[in-house]
Amino acid sequence: MNKRMDKLITLMDEQGFDALALNPGPSLIYLSGLHFHLMERPTVLIVTRKGEAAVVLPALEQGKLVGAAADFQAFAYGDDPATWPAAFDRAAAALGLKRGRLGVEPTRLRFLEIQYLRAAFPEMELVDGEPALSALRVCKNEAEVTKMRLAAQIAQSALLRTLAQVREGMSEKAIANELIIQLLRVGSDPELPFEPIVALGENSANPHAVPTERALRSGDLLLVDWGASFEGYLSDITRTFTFGTVDAELTRIGEVVLAANRAGRESGGAGMAAGEVDRAARAEIEAAGYGEAFTHRTGHGLGMEAHEPPYIFSGNDLILQPGMTFTVEPGIYLPGKGGVRIEDDVVVTENGLTSLTDLPRAVAPLEDFSAA
Ligand code: CO
Ligand code: CO
Repeated sequence: MNKRMDKLITLMDEQGFDALALNPGPSLIYLSGLHFHLMERPTVLIVTRKGEAAVVLPALEQGKLVGAAADFQAFAYGDDPATWPAAFDRAAAALGLKRGRLGVEPTRLRFLEIQYLRAAFPEMELVDGEPALSALRVCKNEAEVTKMRLAAQIAQSALLRTLAQVREGMSEKAIANELIIQLLRVGSDPELPFEPIVALGENSANPHAVPTERALRSGDLLLVDWGASFEGYLSDITRTFTFGTVDAELTRIGEVVLAANRAGRESGGAGMAAGEVDRAARAEIEAAGYGEAFTHRTGHGLGMEAHEPPYIFSGNDLILQPGMTFTVEPGIYLPGKGGVRIEDDVVVTENGLTSLTDLPRAVAPLEDFSAA
C-alpha cells in the first residue's frame, strides 16, 4: 500500500497536483484498503504531494481505520451537520495546505463534498484529478489479474448453470434473476459489477437493453451481458445464442461479429495504440457492410470499475502497456430484428492480448447448453 501511495505522489509531482481529494470508491480502496459507502455524510481522504494524508469521516466509521494499510490523520465529526465544516478545517490546518491545485474525482465527488472542500481550502483551485488517479490504477499487477481471471471464471460457470435452466416461454427478467442467483451461488462478491443484460429477439438490437417480461420463443437470439466481482475485481462478458431456427441475416452477423472479436483480440499488444484494437475489430464489420450497425466503441478498461481507462475507440493514441486490462466487445445491431455482441476481457502482455475469458464465443444454439 505504501508503494501505491509513493506512486501516487510521483504522479502528483509529474502532473502538478498539490493534493488530491478522494471519495469512497475504487481509488480509495486501492490506496488504503478502506471500504466506505457513499452516504449522506461526507467521507473524504486528502493526500498531499508531500505524502501527508488526512481523512475526514463520521465518528462512527473511525473503527475502520484501526489496522488500515496506510497512515492517516483522522478528523472525525459527530451527528450535527453544523460541526462538519470544523472537521474539514482541522484537516486543512493539519495538512498545512493553503494554495495550489486540489484534484478531485470528477465522477465521484458530489456537491456535498465540494462545498466543504471549498470552505476549508478557499484559496485552492479545484481541478480534475482523474489523470493522476487513472494512471495510478491502469496497469494491473499479477495478483490483480488473477482476481479478474477468477471473476471471469465465476461469471462463466454461473452462465452455464443458468443456460441449463432456460426454457421456451421464460422471460428476460426470469433468466436475468436466475443468472444473479447463480453468480452469487458460484462465488461472486455480493455487489455485482452491473445488472445483467438479458435481451431476447428484437430486444437484442438495443445494446443497453433492460430485462423485460418478453418471453423466449423459437427464432430468437438470446444476448446475455453479465459479470461477476471477485475481491473487488470485475468481469464483463457478452455471449449470444440462438433458439430454434433464426433468420439467415442474424446467423450472418453472428459470424461477422465473431471475426471482429477475434481480430480485436489478435490485433495488439504492448506498444500499440488503443485505437488500433478498435480499428482491427471495426474493419471486419465494415468489410461485411455493417459498419453503420456497430454503434459503439470496441471496448473499455475494466478492473475495480466496470468502465475505466483505457477506452478502446478509434483515434485513441494511448499506448498500451503490459498489465492494462480492457474489454473487446464488437457488436452488430439491426433494429426490429436483433443484435449480436461478443465480449471478452483481455490483459495486455509484451506478446499480445491474453483473454481472461474463455467460454466458447461462436453464436451457438441454446439447446447445446440445456440440461438433458
Ligand atoms: Co458488457
Ligand atoms: Co463491456
